[in-house]
Amino acid sequence: MSMRVGIVGCGYWGSKHVRVFSNLPEVSQVVIIDGRPDIRAAVGADFPDALQRGSLTEALDDIDAIVVATPPETHFDVTAEAITAGKHALVEKPMATNTTDGLELVRLAEATGVVLAAGHTFAYNAAVWKLAELVQSGELGKLHFLDADRLNLGLYRPDVNVLWDLAAHDVSITTTVLGAIPDTVSAWGARHSAGFAEDVATLRMRFSHQEVESTVRASWLDPVKVRRTTAVGSQKMAVYDDVDIDARLRVFEMGRSMRGGPGFGGRLEVTYHNGETSVPAIDFQEPLQLEAADFLRCCRTGATPMADGKAGLAVVAVLEASDRSLAENGMPVPVDLAGLHLEPRLAVA
Ligand SMILES: NC(=O)c1ccc[n+]([C@@H]2O[C@H](COP(=O)([O-])OP(=O)(O)OC[C@H]3O[C@@H](n4cnc5c(N)ncnc54)[C@H](O)[C@@H]3O)[C@@H](O)[C@H]2O)c1
Repeated sequence: MSMRVGIVGCGYWGSKHVRVFSNLPEVSQVVIIDGRPDIRAAVGADFPDALQRGSLTEALDDIDAIVVATPPETHFDVTAEAITAGKHALVEKPMATNTTDGLELVRLAEATGVVLAAGHTFAYNAAVWKLAELVQSGELGKLHFLDADRLNLGLYRPDVNVLWDLAAHDVSITTTVLGAIPDTVSAWGARHSAGFAEDVATLRMRFSHQEVESTVRASWLDPVKVRRTTAVGSQKMAVYDDVDIDARLRVFEMGRSMRGGPGFGGRLEVTYHNGETSVPAIDFQEPLQLEAADFLRCCRTGATPMADGKAGLAVVAVLEASDRSLAENGMPVPVDLAGLHLEPRLAVA
């Protein structure tokens, strides 16, 4: 079955969806949908076979499914219109800007029988799958913590803070790697740029069941681009560095052991172990392409996407709790999953 896919919002990120969907054989028609004629013309120049429309409403007769790559504050309205018209929807992160809207999208999609997928690119990243396998198999030993840094200069967004923009990825990575959703979060941040919300922030997620904490640092105001997740276990450590395309994942046979206490006359002895560093082989394919292919497969078969609407809602719920904690200077806030029991779908291949 061939599909007609409309990309709503063809700016920086939506234009990448236009490229990816234009190259998939199951797609018979791509429709460039953007309110700005200059954007339609610029993207359309590279994809002359694509149709162009100025709004989703104008495009409804031309499409079976949409990708929503408009600014976050518009995601709910655009997606709800598409789902109500019976169209499948892949919605960029964050899927919505509050849990009520996210839950409404999940319920609407269920009621209408269409696929709702979340644009959690890292849920389709083979390096993240490998890290999840290392952590969940116990290869690293008992996991002490999982930390992430996502720093860069810009791109500032007017409608959300840096956690909703950047840490959304790390929440998705962490839930994939741990196979769990945090129960409590704390967040701290600062506003260094007039007119914008927090541009530098730290999010701490508590996974009580796993006895693990994960800390994310997110910044639009940093001189060095960093996209790194570090997992530290009792036996080994691993670093996923998305900027290092030759060695996205490295495993360090590195650690320390302690002996001490009363039997040692109160002395503490620390022994350090510094063994080999390995770079596991990863069959890396462009995550956006895997995400698009998974979405189309689910539209065809009715299967559930690896990052479905509930995964999108889980990330929104964590970020909503982070807003409340930010306002209370880091007070721990429980993650409210809006009464839904969410099982994270493990993306380990
Ligand atoms: N998954 C990822 O790795 C990733 C990376 C970057 C951005 N994103 C997400 O993609 C989305 C878009 O980000 P961006 O950086 O491309 O933004 P952008 O500002 O570059 O592009 C947004 C486009 O949407 C258009 N638009 C806005 N409202 C519209 C409407 N109602 N109908 C039609 N067109 C409309 C604008 O004209 C603009 O061209 C955001 O949700 C962002 O978080 C995801």
